[in-house]
Amino acid sequence: MQTNSFRRMANVNGEITPLEEARISILDRGFLYGDSVYEVFRTYSGVPLFCHEHFDRMDNSARLISMTITQSRDEMLNEMRRTAAAANMPQGQDVYVRWHVTRGTGALDLIPSADLKSSFVIILKEVPKWKPEFYSTGMRLAVTRVRRNPVVALSPDIKSGNYLNNILGVAEAVKLGADDCLMLNPDGVVTEASNSNALFVIDGQLVTPSVESGVLRGITKGAIARLSSEYGFKLHERQLKASELTKATESFVTSATREVMPVASIRLESGEWHELPAGGGEVTRRVAKAYKEFVTRYVEEHAALRLL
Ligand code: PDD
Repeated sequence: MQTNSFRRMANVNGEITPLEEARISILDRGFLYGDSVYEVFRTYSGVPLFCHEHFDRMDNSARLISMTITQSRDEMLNEMRRTAAAANMPQGQDVYVRWHVTRGTGALDLIPSADLKSSFVIILKEVPKWKPEFYSTGMRLAVTRVRRNPVVALSPDIKSGNYLNNILGVAEAVKLGADDCLMLNPDGVVTEASNSNALFVIDGQLVTPSVESGVLRGITKGAIARLSSEYGFKLHERQLKASELTKATESFVTSATREVMPVASIRLESGEWHELPAGGGEVTRRVAKAYKEFVTRYVEEHAALRLL
């Protein structure tokens, strides 16, 4: 929802306009081939959460596709601040920031020329409002026939602008009556949802698919892993066979925008629904509380990072 004062804005290579007026070249490789990397974070009281971890992950994604990012981190942060100022963001209001870096604009040729200069697009808008029942009851996930991209083909650890695999997954899940997908890799190992990581309580242990299974190294999930000792839970990363899902007693997904979101049921490959505690069980609630407390502390400690 837009307020009178706040306006969704975009910044394309330094040119700031209202979001709906922003334009890129049709020769941009991000548009032509999905030849780009991107990140999403949100602010809390104006402070971007895990800003530098997102920059680090973007550098890693760029490295994995041999792409050189021409813009420096300081330059990009400065452009984000200019965009936030143009959006007329009231002090302390929270925003969603998404930024893409594409390999640039050049000849219509798959082979990237060595002299390409990367382009950037920053999108600044309000934080997504998820359906309240996604938290009060939980999401419904469906194991889809669409498999997650294999690591050896297009590693899910690359946060690229090519989300077709994820789109096919979530579209199938919605057709199956779910809210999101839970994709398996080609070996039948559990990976992740379309734009969030999945965690489960199995045999009393909090477990999540390892990067080798074919998942994005989630920054929210990483923070939860670091919090675990302080809050008395341990996060185990390992390969998880789809057949183990029937043993799950709790599940939740994590992302920058969903935070800790409970899963109420999982549609298994057999078509049966595996039900989980509505609103999340004890572990899910404990993790959600720990994450909330952590964010409050982070905001206090990183006030200097404010976008405005
Ligand atoms: N998505 N897996 C995938 C495929 C994702 O796209 C995301 C993030 C995550 C969770 O990562 P993190 O905790 O760092 O947000 C896992 C963002 C929010 C998006 O594309 O909108």
